[in-house]
Order: sequence, then structure tokens, then C-alpha cells
Amino acid sequence: MNNKEKYNIRNILGLQKSNNEFYTPEEPIIDLLDNFLNIPKSKIIWCPFDTEDSEFVKQLKHRGYKIISSHIENGKDFYEYEPNEEWDMILSNPPFSGKRILIERCESFKKPFCLLYGATIFSQSMGNTLNRCEFIFIQRNIKFNTPLGDIKSFQCAWIMNKGFPWKWK
Ligand SMILES: C[S@@+](CC[C@H](N)C(=O)[O-])C[C@H]1O[C@@H](n2cnc3c(N)ncnc32)[C@H](O)[C@@H]1O
Repeated sequence: MNNKEKYNIRNILGLQKSNNEFYTPEEPIIDLLDNFLNIPKSKIIWCPFDTEDSEFVKQLKHRGYKIISSHIENGKDFYEYEPNEEWDMILSNPPFSGKRILIERCESFKKPFCLLYGATIFSQSMGNTLNRCEFIFIQRNIKFNTPLGDIKSFQCAWIMNKGFPWKWK
């Protein structure tokens, strides 16, 4: 069974929470880009869970990066779609459901990824998945916007693959 099928079955069984619409504010993205990742401007960044309204898209463009954004509402389902163009890394805040298969899908590309997740990921059943990752814990809670206009605040971490290129070539 592939990841997409597993994800769909979890949805049918009602195991997925459908609370996936949390929009990231600019502060943690600015902090990550300016103080941690040091991504060369030549790198092409794929944001697979992002429309043009996303702060990931805005902040990356503002810094002069070439980006590719895609989102399920534009028919680009992460479990089926990969950009035709060249790309160098994944950066986004993904849906919070299906974390393990989502990280496995990221790993399958064999390229760097950096994902924003709620810190509850560390208390969930993730098998060995997190053993293959590195983390940056974010000290302040992130206040996410939701479609209904209310704000949800929780503790988060950036999750990167082990071997993330801290010193890019
Ligand atoms: C936690 S939200 C974050 C949105 C945006 N990345 C941000 O940080 O503001 C995750 C988004 O991924 C979308 N999504 C859910 N499943 C997806 C899939 N299979 N492929 C692409 N996007 C998906 C959701 O609709 C939601 O808008």
C-alpha cells in the first residue's frame, strides 16, 4: 500500500484529524531563514502545502529565492505530485495529520527538508521516523491563524532530515 492509500484509509476510518488549516505567521519563518538555515540564494525551494498567500512563499520571495509552491486546493496533492522543474529542498508547515507518512514521503525524495510541526509530534507514535531527523525547538509558542479567524497557539519545532546541509555548498 502506498502512502497516499494509507493516508486515505486513515481519513476514511476517521483517524485523521481534519484540523489541518493552521496558517503560519511570519515571525518563526523570518527567524529560521535569517538565523538558522543560511540557504544559498541559488537554491530552489519547494513549498508543497502553500498557496501564494502563505508566509513561507512571501518571506522566501522577499529574500530573492526561486520557489515552487503547490497546494491540494490547486490539485497538487503532495502524495501524488512532484514539480517537473528542478528543486533543491522542501520547506513548509505541512498538515498535522499523517505525520509519519508525510515525513516518509519527504525522505523518499532524498533531498533536504525542513518542516514545522507542533511539539506533540514528540509524544506520538512515530516509529523510528524521528530517529532519522534533527530538530530546532522554537522557544515561544507560535500563534497560528485559522480559517475562522481565531488564533491557535502552540509549541512547535522545525524537523529536518539528518544530514540537513547546515553548510551548503
Ligand atoms: C498546517 S496548514 C499550513 C499552510 C501553510 N503551509 C502555512 O504554513 O501557512 C497545511 C496545509 O496543507 C494543505 N494540505 C493538506 N493535505 C495536503 C496534501 N495532501 N497536499 C498538499 N497540501 C495539503 C491543507 O489544506 C493546509 O492548507
